[in-house]
Order: sequence, then C-alpha cells, then structure tokens
Amino acid sequence: MCGIVALIGSREAGPQLLEGLRQLEYRGYDSAGIATVDPDGLHCLKAEGKLVNLIARFEAEGAPGHCGIGHTRWATHGKPEERNAHPHLDGSGQLAVVQNGIIENHRPLREGLQAEGVRFLSDTDTEVIPHLVARRLAHQETLGAKPSPALLLQAVREVLPGLHGAYALAVVWSRVPGALVVARRQAPLLIGLGEGEFLCASDTPALAGFTRTILPMEDGEVALLTPLGIELYNASGERVQRTPSLLTGTEHMADKRSFRHFMLKEIHEQPETAALWVARHLPEDALVALPLDESVYAGVENIQILACGTSRHASQVGAHLLEQLAGVPTNVFYASEFRYAPPPLRPHTLTIGVTQSGETADTLAALAMERERSQGLADPAFAPRLLGITNRPESSLGRLVPHVLDIGAGIEVGVAATKTFLGQLLAFYGLALAFAERRQGQPGVPDLASLRRLSSQLRGLPAVLRELVEDHDARCAELAHLFAETRDVIFLGRGINYPIAMEGALKLKEISYIHAEGYPAGEMKHGPIALLDSRVPVVSIAVPGMVFDKVLSNAQEAKARDAQLVGVAPACPDSELFDLLLPLPPVEELLSPLLTVIPMQLLSYHIAAHRGLDVDQPRNLAKSVTVE
Ligand code: F6R
Repeated sequence: MCGIVALIGSREAGPQLLEGLRQLEYRGYDSAGIATVDPDGLHCLKAEGKLVNLIARFEAEGAPGHCGIGHTRWATHGKPEERNAHPHLDGSGQLAVVQNGIIENHRPLREGLQAEGVRFLSDTDTEVIPHLVARRLAHQETLGAKPSPALLLQAVREVLPGLHGAYALAVVWSRVPGALVVARRQAPLLIGLGEGEFLCASDTPALAGFTRTILPMEDGEVALLTPLGIELYNASGERVQRTPSLLTGTEHMADKRSFRHFMLKEIHEQPETAALWVARHLPEDALVALPLDESVYAGVENIQILACGTSRHASQVGAHLLEQLAGVPTNVFYASEFRYAPPPLRPHTLTIGVTQSGETADTLAALAMERERSQGLADPAFAPRLLGITNRPESSLGRLVPHVLDIGAGIEVGVAATKTFLGQLLAFYGLALAFAERRQGQPGVPDLASLRRLSSQLRGLPAVLRELVEDHDARCAELAHLFAETRDVIFLGRGINYPIAMEGALKLKEISYIHAEGYPAGEMKHGPIALLDSRVPVVSIAVPGMVFDKVLSNAQEAKARDAQLVGVAPACPDSELFDLLLPLPPVEELLSPLLTVIPMQLLSYHIAAHRGLDVDQPRNLAKSVTVE
C-alpha cells in the first residue's frame, strides 16, 4: 500500500517525482504529496484525491529543487484527507518524511512526543518520524554537530531501531538540500541509478522510464544518497557494496494502448500470457519443463498454500489439481489467518506462497513464520521447504523464499487481478503435471499418456482463449445494461469451478460495488437460497463432467425461486434453462477454470464500466497490500 518516490540529482525533482507517482498510483490513490528542497527551504504540496489534483497544484504553485520525495497514499491511519497526506513535516517545517508501511508503536511514540510539547497535525502513524528525527538532529547540534548529509543519516539511523512494524521511508532536510536518506524494513524499496542522479521508489514502474540499472534494497538497509553516490548500510550498520541489476524488457512500463482501461487491456492480454507460458514451460518433447530444483519435489508428502484474495482462489484451483492429478494432499490457507492459527507442523511439507505482487504483507509474514517454525527443529523431515509463485520475482517474496516460479505475465496495472490470475492457474497446472510425472504409480495419479493428453490440450489454450476473449468482450458489453439496477448477485460453481465462482464474485464486488457471493452450488439449499428472488441474478458455472448434472439441478432450484439465471456453460440442450448464456467452447472439466474465468472477468468489467466507475482504481483498494 502506498507508493513512495525520492529523487536527488541535477534536474528539477518535481516533474520526475510526479511521473514516478503516476506509475505507482495503483498502490494507493486517496491522496498524494511531494516535498522538494532547495537553498530557500522546503516546499511541500499535498492534495486529497487522485494524483491529477496534486499535479494541478504543482502546475499552479511549483516546488523547486533538485532533491525531493513523493507519496501516493492508501489510508491506514487517518482518513483520506489532505492533512493526513504525506509528506509529513517536523515542527520547524524543515524536515519531511514519506513512509509506506505501518509504525505499530506510533501511539506511545506520539504520546511521548506530545508530553514534550510536540504538536501533531495529522492522525497518521508516520508523523512521529519527522518529529523523532528532528529531535535527534537538534540533540546533535547542541553537541556541536553541523548540518551535513552524514548528520541526517546518523539521526535517521538513531531513530529506526525505535520504530516497530514494517516500513519503507525517505527523508529530506532543507538544511542539507544535497542529501536524501532512505530505509526499508519489510516493505519494498529500490534505488535506480541514473547518470549523476538517483531515484528511489517502491516499485519498478516508477524507475523504468528513468533508468534500467537498479539496486533493490535488502531488509533493514539504510542508504544516504547524494549527487556524488550512494552509501549503503546493512541491518547491522555495516557499510555494504552490491552490484546493481538490470531491468530487462518492456514489461516494467505501464501503457494502456488503445484500451479504455488497463483492466480490459489486461484481460485481452491473457492469450499472450498463456502463449508465453506454453512456449516457456510446455515444450513438445517434454510433459512440462519448470525451472525448479529437484529438491522442491523430492519426498514431498503434503503441500500447504498461503495466499490472499484472488491469489487464494487460484491456489484453491491449484490444490484441486495437486490432489486430483498428482495425489499430494494439499491445503490452502488465508495467509492473514495462518499466522494466528497455524496447523501443527507435518514432515516433508512443501509450503507455497502465491502472490502476484510478491509484496502482500500477510503472505510474506505467514511464509516467514513458517520458515522460522520449522527452522529450529532437529529432524530434517521438518526442514523448511518454501516455494513462491509470483509475477514479480524481484519482489520481497523473491528474496524471502529460495525457489520461485515466475508466472511472467508482464506488468499488471489494473487493481483487479486478471492476467496474473490466469498466470497463477497456469503455474499450478505446470506444478501439478511436474509432481504427477514424478509420482507415477502412486494411488490416484493418472498415467503418463493421460498427462500428455492434458499437456497437449494446454498447448492449444492460447488459440482458444483468443477467440473466447473477443467473443465474450462483445457479449458482455451488450449485456451490461441489464445489471444497471442490480444490487446482489450469486455466483455458483462446484468442484474445480467453485473457486472460479468465488473469483467471479470478488471481481464484481471490487470494481462494480455490487454485493456478490460465490458459493459451492450444492450449498445454496442450506441457507443462501433464502436470498433469491427475481431481483437477484444467479451466475452458474456448468461444465460437462463430474458435477454437470448436479450444477444444472442447483440452477433449476434457483430458477424455481424466480432468479434470473446466467449460465457459463456450453451451448447445448441442457443450457436452455438459462435466461442468458455465456457460452463455452468444448473443454475438459479439469482444464475448464482457464476458460470459465474469462466471462467472469468480462461481465464484471462491463457492468462496472457501464456504471461509469473507475475500473482501474476502485475505491478503498490498492494493487499491492503491504500492510497487515
Ligand atoms: C483482487 C485482487 C486481490 C489480490 C490480493 C492478493 O482482484 O487483486 O484480492 O489478489 O490482494 O494480492 P497478491 O496476489 O499481490 O498477493
């Protein structure tokens, strides 16, 4: 949550900071601000609402200086109002701080400062930081220290150990306009190295237009940036040198092309996501080829998957595949719940963290806890074995776990995950095939011939998806007006398509603000059926296979209560029961989630777009949730 940028160099900082914030707006967009420093002092501008409001202020008022910091906010402490927008200043107005994360002990810190007479202007947790740093600076100055970059660095380093929680932060001080101090603990921060200038940001899109040379900061590191160079210190306070890495490809740039919204563009990119996955991991001469070490598979007896939101729905499909195709008992947990009620440790367990952003605090914390729980045990059967599935291998997840499966979907800007969901599904198909290949002969594992058939059907997926996306885009656009007054929608699915019903409901809720429930179709009659009447549409996913007849019967039960039935099903005599049909091509049930999710995404998209809503930046949400 929240995006931060910081720049120091030879050109005007303001425009570059605003461009960086534009690239990070997906991380939060309820207010934004920048602070620059020049020999005349500190210039701070803030605005409530979207970034355009801040840009308008900058154009009217300006903010000179070659060094500055910026922030786009997703509110945690304090309402989304201008006074709570970052940067936050010390009492003298000379020192400014932006922060992404949560300072968990901000309350006692604030009370202590208030007791000393400090006046707070915001309700945020962050505001304690400028006051604490200013206090350290004042103390050093009473001992004779002169304002200098080193003094600013020292003051920040003295304050950091007293902050509890996760943070990435940047600090400027108008008394040393040629210095910038940045630090991170459990929240992302990367330094971009330009020519005689440095840009620091929460994520690569803000850096990609500036430089391709990046230095991701490690947990606990602090850096002093001046136009002359970087001084980097590790968590133990030692000076460290590291070789920067290069950003490759164009996937780090956000570009909407001719689409009305990023979300629609990203839905249309899914055939390409699948094509890339197939080209990389499903070569003709092998069942599947994943770039994973054999130690990931060897002797695994159980799998547990930790994830949130849409990633959790992909994981539920994954669990179905790992159990039904590879015969490995698999459990999926809400990462946010796992930490507080973990199951007893089991030997030979593979733990998989699934997060498109690689920055979800709940998922990272659950993985870290799992690593610590098992690390202390003498029995090697309990040795931690962690795998991450992500779209951002360079993220915090990539640094936390030893093995990473990169879904390679390219940057996703729309807050509602679409192509990364498909990428996660494909990762699980690959993983289940890889386990099944290694577990031949074990109970419930299909033989190689059946697995090869599945893998060859997966190779044909991009072409099928291409047609499906085009077709359903047009259909859903035509249907959207029928949902203009809708207040509640029920999504039903069974078996491998139950998570897709959940995903359909989540997509609709988050971008259209229509209340929606995803339910296992057979559970309707145990309660939720009481909600049904002619005003509540029911979207039913019915794919020929093990549960087809059952799902149709459940749909009949809904129809008998006057519900409007929308079918996601093949066009066949059975599907005549639906009032509206979003037709599917013939597909094997086990592969069907890769197709059934498309009408879910497009229906939600067009309903929200028809209502004139901000599809890419829905209210109250952010793309990467870096707070617990
Ligand atoms: C919904 C959505 C969220 C995320 C969730 C986890 O469209 O995107 O539910 O899936 O916040 O995010 P990641 O995958 O980054 O861990």
